[in-house]
Amino acid sequence: MPSEFVQELEGMIHERRKTTSPLYQTILEGKATNRLLQTFVIQRWPVKSWWTRNVIGVATRVDDIPIRRALIENAYEEETGALSHSKRHVTTFEDFGRSVGVAPESLPHATLFPETIALVEHNKNACCNTSVHFTEGTASVLLLMEGQPPITDTKGSSMMAVMRDAYKLPEWGYEFFKHHASSDAGSEGVSDLEEEHTAPLRDLLDLYCNTPELQERARQSLATAIELRHSHFDAILREAYDPSEPVFVYQGEGA
Ligand SMILES: [Fe+2]
Repeated sequence: MPSEFVQELEGMIHERRKTTSPLYQTILEGKATNRLLQTFVIQRWPVKSWWTRNVIGVATRVDDIPIRRALIENAYEEETGALSHSKRHVTTFEDFGRSVGVAPESLPHATLFPETIALVEHNKNACCNTSVHFTEGTASVLLLMEGQPPITDTKGSSMMAVMRDAYKLPEWGYEFFKHHASSDAGSEGVSDLEEEHTAPLRDLLDLYCNTPELQERARQSLATAIELRHSHFDAILREAYDPSEPVFVYQGEGA
């Protein structure tokens, strides 16, 4: 059972989980257009590309060995896919991009929305700036991303199912969603992998986020991150979605 403080943070995360965002609702309802999915990949990529560096930025400052080791294992798996015998996780996201017509080599040079830049900068600062206590990054970046409940709409369709069944992506295109941010309705965590990643974060917060001042800073940092993240989601939908454009269906490109 998580501590009262961790439960409070997880309550904040749950209240504004991804599926409360109109962007995710549109994608999950099978209404996304090609331009929306491409923009989704382009604007989400920098956040994902910084993920392991943010995990390591926190890990660097953790004295407790089992917790540090769990963070490093998480980052190692993310960067290599070696523990799950799959690919570097960002590569599977880039494969998803390829299946909707985004060239992976274009991603580092793409023009980012101000809302995307604000979110990436918040995350870097919270996790990697050594004058910011690492429990802020743990709450507002690591717990926020790992602690997402399953992405399913009210009818129980998951990101993986919608990518496969509505947008007709080939398996290499929806591989990313098998391990991330997807689950069939009714199951507990995002996936076993991510559930396993949440436990050390709870331990870390119990051990190190142990004064009212630190807890208040972590709480505020999480509240800021949640706002920035939803502004970033809203920008993607606002800038890239026009319901008069045809719904995307995979046509066999990018194989
Ligand atoms: Fe991952």
